[in-house]
Amino acid sequence: MTTSTATASPFQLTEEQLAVQAAARDFAQNELWEGVIERDDHQKFPAAQIKRMGELGFMGMMVSPEYGGSGLDTISYVLAIEEISKVDASCSVIMSVNNSLVCWGLEQYGTEEQKQKYLTRLASGEIIGAFALSEPEAGSDATSQRTTAEDKGDYYLLNGTKNWITNGSTASVYLVIAQTHPELKSRGINVLIVEKDSPGFVVGPKENKLGIRGSDTCSLMFTDVKVPKENRIGDDGFGFKFAMQVLAGGRIGIAAQALGIASGSLELSLKYAKERKAFGVEIAKHQAIQFKLADMATNVDAARLLCLQAAADKDNHADYAKSGAMAKLFASKVAMDASAEAVQIHGGYGFVKEYHVERFYRDAKITQIYEGTSEIQKIVISREILK
Ligand code: CAA
Repeated sequence: MTTSTATASPFQLTEEQLAVQAAARDFAQNELWEGVIERDDHQKFPAAQIKRMGELGFMGMMVSPEYGGSGLDTISYVLAIEEISKVDASCSVIMSVNNSLVCWGLEQYGTEEQKQKYLTRLASGEIIGAFALSEPEAGSDATSQRTTAEDKGDYYLLNGTKNWITNGSTASVYLVIAQTHPELKSRGINVLIVEKDSPGFVVGPKENKLGIRGSDTCSLMFTDVKVPKENRIGDDGFGFKFAMQVLAGGRIGIAAQALGIASGSLELSLKYAKERKAFGVEIAKHQAIQFKLADMATNVDAARLLCLQAAADKDNHADYAKSGAMAKLFASKVAMDASAEAVQIHGGYGFVKEYHVERFYRDAKITQIYEGTSEIQKIVISREILK
């Protein structure tokens, strides 16, 4: 169990935002701690926990209640993801992909029919969604899609392979990015809603990962999969812009996940430093430890401010491509540093699973890779500031 280190925020959180934060903290502390080490160890998908997150409204937080969501703002979303990530970053990535990449994209750009058919079930947590952009040879270079969606009149014929797909085997609905008009490059790409049981769609084995081992990451294979035309989101050729738009928001969720790993590392380190004795006193009395804690706390607060800024930009309909990328770039580095220091502060105990911080140390790394590597975030930021 951890204690809260939340400090007053210049963002003047509303009663509602504070209530969401408290509910997420209660849920994470009371329902996620138990079994988190075992889930990580055995790469066990947190099915019961995700079902509860759906019941509590965490799977479609920003979706309008009309479509089964909680109708909350992005700040509430960041606060909830931080609390959940303090305990189980596998749960938070499952949540983040469903909320930011799948539900948000469907609500913004889907047809009424698509929303009724898919969004309501996704936002309520009845089913889970996945976002399939990355390919064996198209990760950072997202325009180089090899998966094809051939226009066959009233349907698309989908062929290709997707890699490292979060919720790969547990999702029921997939938003698949594919090339329809190669000569048009990024403007020829489409996004299609693909159902799990479509003939020709095969999910590959689960990847054996360094971190976030509770979440299932798989490759997806499509062989002559027929996708009805009405399952295309947006106009013909809108797929790449769709992907960039949802990823811009998704990066805020991943930034909040990284923030949670960092603040969880800090909270456990504060607790341990007050309990563990060395050279006759609690290690918290040693300046070597105090300096580490001070650096961690400073970085965590700075990362939280960047996350809240990006969330506020999104809520205020301002451009959040830069602030979201900055939040992810910074918070993911803070997660790496804070989790490493947490292991160091815990010494030998930090290297064993029981004390949780070794898991934070492993989980932190992916936040510098998925939804755009740190190098991609720097491309996004520099493009914006050089405009
Ligand atoms: N919003 C809207 N449109 C955007 C955009 C944005 N944020 N960014 C780019 N676009 C548009 C451009 O305006 C351009 O449109 P036009 O053709 O009309 O001019 C079009 O998209 C192509 O843009 P670029 O030429 O800038 O494209 P690029 O190849 O240079 O890519 C990039 C830019 C930022 C590097 C992009 O490729 C990128 O973000 N790559 C990383 C992809 C990524 O994050 N992958 C992670 C996979 S998903 C995942 O991890 C999910 C998970 O499971 C956890």
